[in-house]
Amino acid sequence: MSDHAFATRAIHAGQAPDPTTGSIIPPIYQASTHVQDGIGGFRDGYEYNRAGNPTRSSLETQLAALEGGANALSFASGLAAEDALLRGILKPGDHIVLGNDVYGGTYRLLTRVLAPWGIETTTVELSDADALRAAIRPETKIIWVETPSNPLLKIVDIALIAEIAHAAGAIAVVDNTFASPALQQPLSLGADLVVHSTTKYLGGHSDVLGGAVVFGDDRFYEQIKFQQFAVGAVSAPLDAWLTTRGIKTLAVRVRQHSENAQAIAEWAAARPEFATVYYPGLASHPGHDIAARQMSGFGGMLSLGLSAGANAAKAFAESTELFQLAESLGGVESLIGYPPDMTHASVRGTALAVPENVVRLSVGIEGVDDLIADLEQGLTRLR
Ligand SMILES: Cc1ncc(COP(=O)(O)O)c(C=O)c1O
Repeated sequence: MSDHAFATRAIHAGQAPDPTTGSIIPPIYQASTHVQDGIGGFRDGYEYNRAGNPTRSSLETQLAALEGGANALSFASGLAAEDALLRGILKPGDHIVLGNDVYGGTYRLLTRVLAPWGIETTTVELSDADALRAAIRPETKIIWVETPSNPLLKIVDIALIAEIAHAAGAIAVVDNTFASPALQQPLSLGADLVVHSTTKYLGGHSDVLGGAVVFGDDRFYEQIKFQQFAVGAVSAPLDAWLTTRGIKTLAVRVRQHSENAQAIAEWAAARPEFATVYYPGLASHPGHDIAARQMSGFGGMLSLGLSAGANAAKAFAESTELFQLAESLGGVESLIGYPPDMTHASVRGTALAVPENVVRLSVGIEGVDDLIADLEQGLTRLR
């Protein structure tokens, strides 16, 4: 499977027809436990659902194939995946360097849940290699990268970060949620682990929560799998199955998300109502060249800084119709959010605070003319 095109792997990896019935779609194994052939006689290694489930295995095979990984683990949510990864690797006294524009929940997990257990976090502008090197300490175990970042779409050179991490005896972890493996495969650029909120582009239809860790090799698999087994934040069979179904159309969806977002970014860049358009597909974006090198498209996420400030941004987020006001991203339907009060409320007042004039768009795959008309009517309501 590994020599097949991405779109082929997305449809076939881990998705062999049911050998008993020939059902083209593997069944949903909605079971909590598995009969043993004598004590310890596990069929295909399955024992109890927290330890393993065939539907979850299908998804894990599919995820590893998409990222070019050796293995993957599927969790109940992106944050559950992050938590298992961090607890599986870090010990009290260890240190992590985190990009200074990341999903607020990642920062909250590190600073409010893991800090009391002795894990220290430093946030840094990751595009500044000297600042990153200066932030690394002897206890630094992980450099955590989001690129494109949430919500300001900053771009970081993954290969460079991995090189700096490895030189310091640390590992590079990339949250690949925004790009999805359809556009960027961090393991091939030198990252050690990839993490996902599969809730977003991988699931793709805003109907299921999930998360994943994908492993470049065998180094960390057993210890993170142990965390998953011992703590239990696994994806449920139906959720895993919905995610496998979503993944099959990932390549075509992401192509359309990217095309629509590029058109909207170009439209917005020509409008005086927007002081800033944060989209790596614009040549004016500071990370454009790196993004063009390490991504095969620029994705469906973009943020807009309203020239008239915070109140205009909030009003705009409440003025669109096709762009529905909601948390989350990556579904086929367009969403708009106001990060300072929504996804990033937990970082207000910190070094990660999002500018108050910013709205974030998750551009869906509707007709792009309709989407632009919706944004235009949103602007007219501000006058
Ligand atoms: C970049 C990123 N990483 C991780 C998460 C957390 O994922 P979940 O909501 O599935 O726990 C999110 C959620 O918005 C996200 O945007």
